Amino acid sequence: MTDAAEAGVRIIAVANQKGGVGKTTTAINLGTALAAVGRRVMILDLDPQGNASTGLGIERANRAVTSYEALMGEATLAEALVDTAIPNLSLVPSTIDLSGAELELVDQPRRAHRLKEALSAPAIVDNFDYVLIDCPPSLNLLTLNSMVAAHSVLVPLQCEFFALEGLSLLLRTIDQVRESFNPALEIQGIVLTMYDARNNLSDQVAADVRGFLGTKVYDTVIPRNVRISEAPSHGQPALIYDHRCAGSQAYIKLASELLRREEARIAA
Ligand SMILES: Nc1ncnc2c1ncn2[C@@H]1O[C@H](COP(=O)(O)OP(=O)(O)OP(=O)(O)O)[C@@H](O)[C@H]1O
Ligand SMILES: [Mg+2]
Repeated sequence: MTDAAEAGVRIIAVANQKGGVGKTTTAINLGTALAAVGRRVMILDLDPQGNASTGLGIERANRAVTSYEALMGEATLAEALVDTAIPNLSLVPSTIDLSGAELELVDQPRRAHRLKEALSAPAIVDNFDYVLIDCPPSLNLLTLNSMVAAHSVLVPLQCEFFALEGLSLLLRTIDQVRESFNPALEIQGIVLTMYDARNNLSDQVAADVRGFLGTKVYDTVIPRNVRISEAPSHGQPALIYDHRCAGSQAYIKLASELLRREEARIAA
């Protein structure tokens, strides 16, 4: 193995300030696909909506310690970790409590570094190959914490009319984070989501994004697929709910493309 398994943990912020573009779906299903090929994966739910926690079947009652306590320094991330039904896949859950973190941290020193410090514990660094941070739909202090902590940002992008404008703002934000906090922050890749082959606009947007960002855009495209949208209400990744559906197959392909690109990055 020549990817993160050798190189140490790879922390990836799954981010886009636009709501409903497939951040959580990507974190859950990419995480599941990486775990299925033997990588040790943590999904860190950094969204007060708690959709990654719900989508992985972790009930509120089983979220005693969450990303909120870890950010506030009231617990370690290791204490917040819960197992999921998927071997090799652990979760740091969240609840609505996390919505208070921004205000509570506002006058705290090193408030943008809270997550980085929590993730640098040996219990995390030594025990995981990939950490996927599911960010909220906002460029707030939570997302900033994720970008300060991360090696890279993975951007799910829905193939729709305003996609490129939202992307420019996100790229500017990543530049600012590089300048002020995290010079090494990379773009892991852009993944086109909810692609609809019957819709000409989907094609046009995909071509524009590839023209703009070139090889940073994954070859793998995630199709719009009803099985993907059904899976969370069963508390299961789509990959478990129906591994044969087109959406699950696309996430399996995305995971192998990501691993292939990681090998190339590490070899370079
Ligand atoms: N490829 C897909 N095909 C069909 N439905 C999808 C697909 N990807 C995501 N969805 C559905 O679209 C909705 C939004 O997806 P998701 O929750 O992953 O987006 P998000 O970016 O995390 O949203 P938020 O910004 O609220 O956190 C969900 O209901 C999800 O099940
Ligand atoms: Mg989400």
